Amino acid sequence: MKKVFGLFGYPVHHSMSPIMQEAAFSDCDIMANYHAFLVKPEQLKEAVKSIRALQLGGVNVTIPHKVAVMEYLDEVDEEARQIGAVNTIVNRNGRLIGYNTDGRGYLESLLELTETVVGKNVAIIGAGGAARAVATVLINAQVSQLVIANRTVLKAEALLQRLPNGNTVTEVMSIAELEHTLHKFDIIINTTSVGMSPHADESPLSLTHLKENTVVSDLIYNPLQTKLLMEAEAMGALTLNGLGMFVNQGALSFEYWTEQKPNRQKMTDVVLKQLGGIRC
Ligand code: ATR
Repeated sequence: MKKVFGLFGYPVHHSMSPIMQEAAFSDCDIMANYHAFLVKPEQLKEAVKSIRALQLGGVNVTIPHKVAVMEYLDEVDEEARQIGAVNTIVNRNGRLIGYNTDGRGYLESLLELTETVVGKNVAIIGAGGAARAVATVLINAQVSQLVIANRTVLKAEALLQRLPNGNTVTEVMSIAELEHTLHKFDIIINTTSVGMSPHADESPLSLTHLKENTVVSDLIYNPLQTKLLMEAEAMGALTLNGLGMFVNQGALSFEYWTEQKPNRQKMTDVVLKQLGGIRC
């Protein structure tokens, strides 16, 4: 019998997870469907219960449910608790276990570009859920310094309080302060939606003080090259878009559900095709 997996979100119609996960299942010869379920916030509890009733293999969870879903699960993995959000639920014989693969998905894509993050000075722009996932894994991976810069500095301060204790020196800055000290950082990561289609002409940061060979990274993958990445590349930076993070978080979810490693290149190719990219 075909297993059913899915995505709970509101909205979900734009998601590329179904085509990406179905490509992974098909490549591994696993008989499964992956469906995007439109789940209203007031129906989240019922939707989570239905995972057991309908014997779904597992689901991904996206905006706006990643935090709220935690209270309806039987168990939440340590890293997901640190991040304060779940994006993956595994149904183990009726027991629902929550994980978060966003941060690790990001770290894995970053490590394809730079050998190590240990001892690096990192600046994160933004202080929302994505920033928390990325900041948590970077502290756990022992970066040396981590700055959170945000339009609303108070929100960055609140985020800092919720990050795990590690050996990393953490600090909050305004966007202007970060802009003036940009040369001090090895890795700069945009976690805000500034620059995302249809506002591709916007950038969250002026790069005047950027030094060569800095890694500049954007979690956005539509467009694949944001204005921030274009400007950074022109200044000699190494750039990384959000496609790798998206594929990796999905691949890690797939591994939790199936205990098999999916073909990440095939997953990347179907997403690129959907985005109108060139490779496939
Ligand atoms: P997510 O969970 O995806 O990270 P979020 O929690 O809504 O999303 O966080 C969005 C982040 O993008 C916030 O840091 C937000 O800044 P504020 O805290 O000041 O709201 C940032 N952001 C969104 N739009 C922005 C804009 N136009 N300019 C600057 N920052 C912006």
